[in-house]
Formats: sequence, structure tokens, C-alpha cells
Amino acid sequence: MKINTAEFIISNSEVSKCPKEPIPEYAFIGRSNVGKSSLINMLTGRNSLAKTSGKPGKTQLINHFKINENWFLVDLPGYGYARVSKSTKETFQKFITDYFEKREQMVCAFVLIDIRLEAQKIDLEFLTYLGTTEVPFCIVFTKADKISKGKIDQNVAAYRKALLANNWEEMPQYFVTSSTEGTGRDTLLDYIGEVNQGIFDNQGFI
Ligand code: GTP
Ligand code: MG
Repeated sequence: MKINTAEFIISNSEVSKCPKEPIPEYAFIGRSNVGKSSLINMLTGRNSLAKTSGKPGKTQLINHFKINENWFLVDLPGYGYARVSKSTKETFQKFITDYFEKREQMVCAFVLIDIRLEAQKIDLEFLTYLGTTEVPFCIVFTKADKISKGKIDQNVAAYRKALLANNWEEMPQYFVTSSTEGTGRDTLLDYIGEVNQGIFDNQGFI
């Protein structure tokens, strides 16, 4: 899929204030600093559309970006950043869970996982939360430029093993990406294009 337009629409902390248009949206979620905002910039080809930072905790709100005037990308705050105060952390979690439980237009959550790390408890917990809440999701491994091709395959295999050990029956659909190199861009955009097409063919969500 080709990206013709990408525009920032609104940031807010309440799901009820998110855009009302019944068009498909895709949310990017994962631990702070995993590369959610960078991936949105890479996909849209707009380097400073979503704000990024070397320090975790940069994105603090639900950010809607409208793409090609007929679907949304959503940049969410990260979870699991230990240095924010407990109450702030709880707020993140509340509006993240509110978002996933209430946002009917959300057709796929992309859960970002740093390809370099072994499976982290908090990510496994979040995946279980999505599973029990029946939120459709895919895994997006990030920062693939930081390790060799052989190591990528090894780490994906290790992740599959960790998921199976956590009661998942199979590895969910996954993508391997690098925002600095553009790896995975076409595959991910084509996937979104296919899901969108299915929705548009059925005249939306009605
Ligand atoms: P929060 O908004 O704090 O939750 O973080 P985030 O998940 O949006 O991460 P962000 O996109 O701000 O990126 C965090 C850091 O990782 C930045 O320094 C990015 O430059 C770096 N980064 C993100 N993606 C990649 C990647 O694919 N490769 C490399 N080498 N660095 C990356
Ligand atoms: Mg961010």
C-alpha cells in the first residue's frame, strides 16, 4: 500500500474523545522505548510525525494520525516504564486498557517487542490480557538492525517457544522491522491494506 497522506489529528487521554469516524484503526503498543513512534514515522515516511525520544516515556497520550484520509494509525504511551510514579503508571494502564476495551474501530493492535531481548514478563502479561479480552493483535519485532539475520531467526524461534510455554497454541502473525533501515515496511503496510480492503468491501463496520 502506498501512503499518500499522513496527518496528525488529535492527542487525548480519554477514549470517549477519540475521533468518531467509523474507519479502521491500528494501534501501536508495547514497552516504553521499544520504538512505537519511530515505527509510525517509518511507515508513513514522515520523520517527525510522531514524537520519538531516546528516553522512555515520551508518548503520554493517545495520538491519532489519519492516513490516506480513510484509516488511522494510533500511537499509544508505552507500558512498563518503572521510573514514572505509581499513580501516573496506573493512569497509563487505565487508559490503555480502556482504549482496547472500548475502541470499536480498532481492528488490529500491533504489539511491539524488542527483537534483541528474551521474552519479558510484562509483554507476556500484556499479550495474555489481549488474548483474554479478545483483542486482535499481531507481534511486531523492532530494532532488527541491531542484530544479525541469524540471531533474528534464533530470537523469533525463542519467542515462539516462550509463547507456547505461556499457553499460546501458536505463534501469532508477526513482522520483523527496523525503523532505521525501513525493514518490514512494505509487508506491514500490505497487511494493513488487506485488512482495510476486507472492511471497505463490507461497507465498513455496519
Ligand atoms: P515511548 O513513547 O517512550 O513509549 O517510546 P516509543 O516506543 O515510542 O519509542 P521511540 O519510537 O520514541 O524510540 C525509542 C528509541 O529507540 C529512540 O532513540 C529511537 O531512535 C530508537 N529506535 C526506535 N526504533 C528503532 C530501530 O528500529 N532501530 C534502532 N537502531 N533504533 C530504534
Ligand atoms: Mg512513543
